Amino acid sequence: MKVSKLLLGVNVDHCATLRQARYRGVDRESGLAVEPDPVFFAQLAEQAGADGITMHLREDRRHVQEADVRRARAVLATRLNLEIACTVEMTQFALDLMPEAVCLVPEDRQEVTTEGGLDVVGQRERIQTVTRAVKAAGIEVSLFIDPDTVSIETAAAIGVPVVELHTGAFANAFHGRDCNKELERLLRGAEKAHSLGLIVNMGHGINYQNIRLIRSIPHLHELNIGHTILSRAMFTGVTEAVREMKALMNP
Ligand code: PXP
Repeated sequence: MKVSKLLLGVNVDHCATLRQARYRGVDRESGLAVEPDPVFFAQLAEQAGADGITMHLREDRRHVQEADVRRARAVLATRLNLEIACTVEMTQFALDLMPEAVCLVPEDRQEVTTEGGLDVVGQRERIQTVTRAVKAAGIEVSLFIDPDTVSIETAAAIGVPVVELHTGAFANAFHGRDCNKELERLLRGAEKAHSLGLIVNMGHGINYQNIRLIRSIPHLHELNIGHTILSRAMFTGVTEAVREMKALMNP
């Protein structure tokens, strides 16, 4: 049996968060040393072996800015996966930008980072409308959902080719009693999604420790990883941080 390589999408949002902590509202063209640049981070990650780059343009623009996404679209050599909320404004932005992929994610202004999967049951109509528009433009669509049967079945019924299963609960439980239970949920979720013909991606809270369990999950196509790579890169540099994660993903 041929085992395909597990792909790495590097999420650069937290690099933009760090920049905004000092330079909110300051333009790159201002002449000030607006840093760190998430697009440069993305380019270094690509050179070190990242298979794609993920950026979340939030409605409140708290980290990634429109200008970042447009520059990334122009200079990236791999694939740009744009995460957006399910709104008319963000759909229009995606259709204008034409990234290779769009991942629909929930947004809550109170959260620090995306805390849970999409409410695919409650918001089915809205998600379906956006999915149709984005698919019709030839962009690959995925839904960021919790690894439960109802969400996975609903995603399949909506007609997306890809789901990204939320690994946050597993990552939070990694050192606790519920670690095996949460891993089991991901395993069952991956089996279910695969059985329905969906491509299975995962992301959120994956790090250099828990990757050893994550990679044991069957049918995985791509992992989206951000915070841990940026954190490691502060001490080792981006190249080493990306290479090490890729080596752990595909031992
Ligand atoms: N996937 C999605 C949909 C996300 O929202 C995030 C976090 O922004 C990630 C993956 C990456 O999570 P982390 O930064 O914890 O690796």
